[in-house]
Amino acid sequence: MSSNQQTILVAYNSRGGNTRAVAQALEQALAQEYSQADVLLEEITPDTVEQVRAAAQAADTSLIGFWCDKGSCTDEVADVLQSLSGKRVFLFGTAGFGGSAAYFDRILTGVRGKLPQDTVYLGGAMCQGKMSQSVRQRYEGMLAQNPDDPKIKAMIENFDAAQPHPTKEDLAAIISAAKSSL
Ligand SMILES: Cc1cc2nc3c(=O)[nH]c(=O)nc-3n(C[C@H](O)[C@H](O)[C@H](O)COP(=O)(O)O)c2cc1C
Repeated sequence: MSSNQQTILVAYNSRGGNTRAVAQALEQALAQEYSQADVLLEEITPDTVEQVRAAAQAADTSLIGFWCDKGSCTDEVADVLQSLSGKRVFLFGTAGFGGSAAYFDRILTGVRGKLPQDTVYLGGAMCQGKMSQSVRQRYEGMLAQNPDDPKIKAMIENFDAAQPHPTKEDLAAIISAAKSSL
């Protein structure tokens, strides 16, 4: 590797595989687009936080992927974000609820808030991601108790709408947002 070769890190945290799928698609697309660059893929887990922090320090640009955990990202992702002082960062994520850009923007704003003030924030993109079947069962149990509750019905509708995500279109949209931001 020559000393002026660019390094791009794609690091992600994923519990069920949705964010991993986005990260893998990003890695492939960026490796193709920037064939002179070194594009690295790393998984963020509580055990790899230090390793990912070191990889991000060595990288020119980092794309950090998170799944929406109670409105934000997990602690291990926050631990990585906090170390990105002065670095160029793009955020990507998946969330169970979708259908509204404002909802994704709110989540991204909160996660971005975990970056140090001097991080160069390049932008962010999110898509919906399927949830586990146990969530639907929980909703069905709630509906059995309150059969006319429109909120619970809407939650079940959202669950079903989330099942195909991330779709090919979701991946393409996030790749496009990342490419135009880097
Ligand atoms: C413990 C837990 C908390 C979650 N909290 C939210 C939430 O606050 N908002 C939301 O839209 N989705 C929420 N979800 C759904 C996930 O963000 C969504 O399914 C995501 O795509 C999972 O990504 P992964 O497959 O990479 O783990 C939650 C899921 C779990 C398991």
